[in-house]
Amino acid sequence: MASLNITKARANFPALQSGFIFADNAGGSQAVRGVVDRISDYLLNTNVQLGADYSVSVLSTDRVASGPDIAVKLFNASSPSEIVYGSSSTLNLENLARGLEPTIEAGDEFIVTGEHEANTGPWKKLAARRGGVVKFWHAVPTSPDNPYSVATRIEDLLPLITARTRIVAISACSNILGSIVPVKDVVQAVRREAAAKGAANVEVSVDCVAYAPHRRIDVKEWDVDYCVFSWYKVYGPHCSAMYVRSKALQSSVTSIAHHFLSVGSTAYKLQPGGPGYELVYGTTGVLPYLLSLVPPPANVASSDDPTIAHLDAAFAAIAAHEQELLKPLLGFLTAPEQVARGVRIVGTEHSGLHRVPTVSFVVVGPQAKRSRDIVEVFDRKGGVGIRWGHFYAYTLIDDLEPKLDTADGVVRISLVHYNTVAEVQRIVEILKEALL
Ligand SMILES: Cc1ncc(COP(=O)(O)O)c(C=O)c1O
Repeated sequence: MASLNITKARANFPALQSGFIFADNAGGSQAVRGVVDRISDYLLNTNVQLGADYSVSVLSTDRVASGPDIAVKLFNASSPSEIVYGSSSTLNLENLARGLEPTIEAGDEFIVTGEHEANTGPWKKLAARRGGVVKFWHAVPTSPDNPYSVATRIEDLLPLITARTRIVAISACSNILGSIVPVKDVVQAVRREAAAKGAANVEVSVDCVAYAPHRRIDVKEWDVDYCVFSWYKVYGPHCSAMYVRSKALQSSVTSIAHHFLSVGSTAYKLQPGGPGYELVYGTTGVLPYLLSLVPPPANVASSDDPTIAHLDAAFAAIAAHEQELLKPLLGFLTAPEQVARGVRIVGTEHSGLHRVPTVSFVVVGPQAKRSRDIVEVFDRKGGVGIRWGHFYAYTLIDDLEPKLDTADGVVRISLVHYNTVAEVQRIVEILKEALL
């Protein structure tokens, strides 16, 4: 397997050259230079309205259309007509719920998690508007020693499915717990259970916002209907892309666009108004960057898409490097000395490919510390960006037992492939002081 050249990778990020340690990447990553160049080129040279016949508008239209072409690869979707751009994943999912609204009947059931509210709130609100029923797939403790080491289990999801199940809304990765959900297995199990119970139209919506920087999304392999991620967490600008399966566009999704626009069975149904053109064009800088991380694999079967195979190799290298970042951080936080002090990981305690380097913890017991006070030590020292709070996964934090203060939440250190082991060592050094 090809490995990452971190120095070379970092050279693509002007922001990293300052030496500041960016460790709040699950909040937002740094933008790669190719993205920034495209945005400024668009604004400086082709900033006109789309769809006119004059030459600059033709170029501008082509540039904006190239955004969905790139997003197709990152989702492994079938066609750019399955891609919607919006200002945020929260907005895209809210628009999706609005587009599905006319098809929802009283008694329809929505299964949601306690994860980020973006893929939960729109379904809860839709259920409230249409007389639907909301059921929670809760994360449960997985370790006898740490009640905050929680995860979702497929066996807890299946009993929630009934003949009335309409939407199953899950996260591919938790922005708090760091754990990766085996989406393909979950969806297979859901579809099998739904068929056995006579649920005719179960659709699956997957939040990949915390997943996309770390692993390759594959909506085809996963067999999901809706999927969303935010480019600003994947080295791009502040906007989001959503995949809407063509079957759903034909049979489930109604248009929320102006009534006189002929959107056909395309994802434009869910894109009222134009997305930020320069940002959509800017996102086309993400794929070339990811592909530049490793050489293309030598032996790709002729039936396989070479770009997808190349992306696979890039994400394999990213995942391998991220494990090297994760090990010392988790190793420090789970060492007997820290556990005796009251440090508890909120999420999966062990490194491994089932986990990304988003690490959350609290300090409880006689030597309890507020999360905000721990982060304040970092802020006083300067040079490192980490954060505390519930990170909009409010329900997940609120569900934890023994209870935590939801306002104070957890301390979260979230790394990505451009972070270095030396940066993690520096974070651990400051942690030693902050936990005293
Ligand atoms: C897991 C997860 N889902 C959804 C979102 C919302 O994304 P956006 O800010 O694009 O609405 C976030 C943002 O932090 C997130 O971490």
